[in-house]
Amino acid sequence: KRIAILISGGGSNMLALVRSMTGDHPARPVLVASNDPQADGLVKACDLGVPTAAVDHRPFGRDRAAFEAELLRHIAAANPDILCLAGFMRVLTPDFVARFEGRMLNIHPSLLPKYPGLHTHQRALEAGDTEAGCTVHEVTAILDDGPILGQARVPVLPGDTSDSLAARVLVQEHHLYPAVLRRYAGGDRSPVLL
Ligand code: GRF
Repeated sequence: KRIAILISGGGSNMLALVRSMTGDHPARPVLVASNDPQADGLVKACDLGVPTAAVDHRPFGRDRAAFEAELLRHIAAANPDILCLAGFMRVLTPDFVARFEGRMLNIHPSLLPKYPGLHTHQRALEAGDTEAGCTVHEVTAILDDGPILGQARVPVLPGDTSDSLAARVLVQEHHLYPAVLRRYAGGDRSPVLL
């Protein structure tokens, strides 16, 4: 299976995915693309020999469709079977999602359906939750919705800040996403529960 990964920043989840696709793994990375040409993850992907592309979303202003058309040009050229959103911070239009529905994954730093959207760790702390975590799900037109393909749980500890909790969750993201992709690329959509 050919995997394209979309990032916006550091790309630590992208790195974990790319590093997992070796040996008898049924998938290989064919593209890492970003909406930010300065994304550090692009350099890391390049160092690992993965083709990269950057489409700065800012010149397109509010014209999401025009930005996505340019992004799609690079994605189509790589001809991926599966699209993985990994720290990708742009909302995608229903038209874009429709092109990849059923073969597009995203990782979200909360135990969905709790806390879709932003500032998930702060919200969990403010709610007094005793556990938090991350979710990999299939992407649908509804933000941070879609069938759950995997979850990993971590304890919320006394004195946690959103940064300390985010760091604990991020470690699990790097285990969860590669585990889900390996199963999903092999055609198994049963959830990975860590
Ligand atoms: C992190 O907050 C992670 O929880 C979320 O996206 C952010 C950046 O991830 N998935 P990455 O290091 O760019 O993969």
